[in-house]
Amino acid sequence: MIEFTVNGTSQRIEAPAEMPLLWVLRDRLGLTGTKYGCGVGQCGACTVHVNGMAVRSCLRPVGQLSGADITTIEGLGDAGAPHPVQAAWIDRQVAQCGYCQSGQIMQAVALLSVRPDPDDAEIDAAMTGNLCRCGTYPRIRAAVRDAAQRLQEA
Ligand code: FES
Ligand code: FES
Repeated sequence: MIEFTVNGTSQRIEAPAEMPLLWVLRDRLGLTGTKYGCGVGQCGACTVHVNGMAVRSCLRPVGQLSGADITTIEGLGDAGAPHPVQAAWIDRQVAQCGYCQSGQIMQAVALLSVRPDPDDAEIDAAMTGNLCRCGTYPRIRAAVRDAAQRLQEA
């Protein structure tokens, strides 16, 4: 039995210790906003926050997460009350197919939590592990800058 918090709700999960967090989020908790891309830590589609840090949930065994505070894209905001980063993403119309975008947003939120006003080089360095097969990188960069401004004005 593993106990942790997901999006502010305590969860008790019966699962093998080696099961990746991504599996638990999607298949046990129904949080399908977090996507399965490569499964080997190379694409970033599965990015969530563990204790405020961006992590690849496809690589993180749940057995290591006892007591952790986990946030997924569903925990940031919703259509009625989007997180400032989500609002910037919507205004900039970043998504194309959308598959990579929850991971991109989670990575961007983690970046802005430690670098509230990143320059382009810092944005590129932080986001480089999050791949987008649709090539939305210019809009991602613009949305991160937009989100930084929104967060500073909030
Ligand atoms: S699915 Fe986890 S990094 Fe690609
Ligand atoms: S929007 Fe399609 S993979 Fe990024």
